[in-house]
Amino acid sequence: MQLFIPILCTLYMNLFFYLYRMNIQACIFDLDGVIVDTAKYHYRAWRKLANSLGFDFTETDNEQLKGVSRMESLDIILNIGKKTLDESKKQTLANQKNDWYLEYITMMTPNEILPGIVSFLDELKTQNMRIALGSASKNAVLTLEKVKLLDRFEIIIDGTKTTRSKPDPQVFLMGAADLGIAPKNCIVFEDATKGIEAAREAGMYAIGVGASNFTQAHAVIPSFEKINFDGIKALLKGTMI
Ligand code: BG6
Ligand code: MG
Repeated sequence: MQLFIPILCTLYMNLFFYLYRMNIQACIFDLDGVIVDTAKYHYRAWRKLANSLGFDFTETDNEQLKGVSRMESLDIILNIGKKTLDESKKQTLANQKNDWYLEYITMMTPNEILPGIVSFLDELKTQNMRIALGSASKNAVLTLEKVKLLDRFEIIIDGTKTTRSKPDPQVFLMGAADLGIAPKNCIVFEDATKGIEAAREAGMYAIGVGASNFTQAHAVIPSFEKINFDGIKALLKGTMI
């Protein structure tokens, strides 16, 4: 009996690790702040809009907009400036912000791809990982074209396809469904805490990229500069979805 209990425990542990072993088949990337440093352009354009309405908008305020759709971002900004406007005026302002944002985006070159991304994507390809984009932006395809990464993504789910913003998991679940991969076999890379919540809600592994306070992420990396895919899998080892 004394021998039997440890053997039983070992068997249960092995069964547990077998059932929960990682089987990563796809990586889903957020765009703004993960692939390219466009958060600064969103900030500049929103700040210009806020200033045109007579109030300022700080970089700390800007953190609230990461991962959030254009119209929801406008609502947050108007709330900061204590402005109430009707829908048609709001649409005009959102269009104005986007026009300013596009002035920055159309100038982008591959130099603005964030450090380490290209070699990480290369490595995923050699390991036959499936690759998708999951972004709130309606400018995602244009941005990827500008930095010459469009052909790296097998599936692109962006703000033109989704109806619900992060932290809703819709964008990532659509990406996994289009790839034909189960959510539990996907890793999401996100720079927004709302995006991390969305990935967790989708039942995927969630990696926080950058310096935000990612309390819900399975793991956090400062950037892709000094890490490869094996390093990512090592960080996730022992974590559970
Ligand atoms: C997200 C950004 O990726 O896209 C948000 O993090 C932005 O800041 C959102 O508001 C929508 O972007 P766009 O390009 O459709 O205005
Ligand atoms: Mg982002």
